[in-house]
Amino acid sequence: MEKQKSEIERVLLTTEQISARIKEVAKKMDEDYRGKEPIAICILKGSVVFFTDLIRAMETHVSIEFMKVSSYGFGTTSSGKLSVSLDILSNIEGRDVLIVEDIIDSGNTMYALTQMLKTRNPASLRIVTLLDNPARRVSEISADYTCFEIEDEFVVGYGLDYAERYRDLPYVGILSRWVYEK
Ligand code: PRP
Repeated sequence: MEKQKSEIERVLLTTEQISARIKEVAKKMDEDYRGKEPIAICILKGSVVFFTDLIRAMETHVSIEFMKVSSYGFGTTSSGKLSVSLDILSNIEGRDVLIVEDIIDSGNTMYALTQMLKTRNPASLRIVTLLDNPARRVSEISADYTCFEIEDEFVVGYGLDYAERYRDLPYVGILSRWVYEK
């Protein structure tokens, strides 16, 4: 039985829908990475659940790395900065790098992260995201692989949180307004 929380207004993506879509995206990625062994970077914390399901759905062998980043200072005149609280351990020079993200909202985090990783001279740099929320986009960035494009809703679960809660839900749900408006 699925974990259900009363604070969830409704389930947006079920465990089964997510799993089926990950298989499709993994297949496409296997075709694109044929003969290669990319480094997959899990962007903590939100991506951890997606990451573990995705790398197991892929036939392609990947090395894994973890990173914790956040963006700040984006405005109308600034290009923004990236705060890195946990960096990867591998040298990515000449390697195929795959960033695994849970959600792209403003795009500021992905924009700043890709700018930073490009300076380390990877052979290729791609982004896969579980969710894309284009209505919130500020920075010009898009994922190479998107599992689901969503409406501008407050989503939690399957790694995504509100105040560090709900990451453990096995589905993506829309958080009830009363939870964050109280
Ligand atoms: C979330 C999410 C992305 C970023 C997306 O991370 O995981 O990394 O925000 O937002 P953006 O497109 O507007 O930059 P968060 O900083 O909340 O950390 P978490 O993954 O640990 O929850």
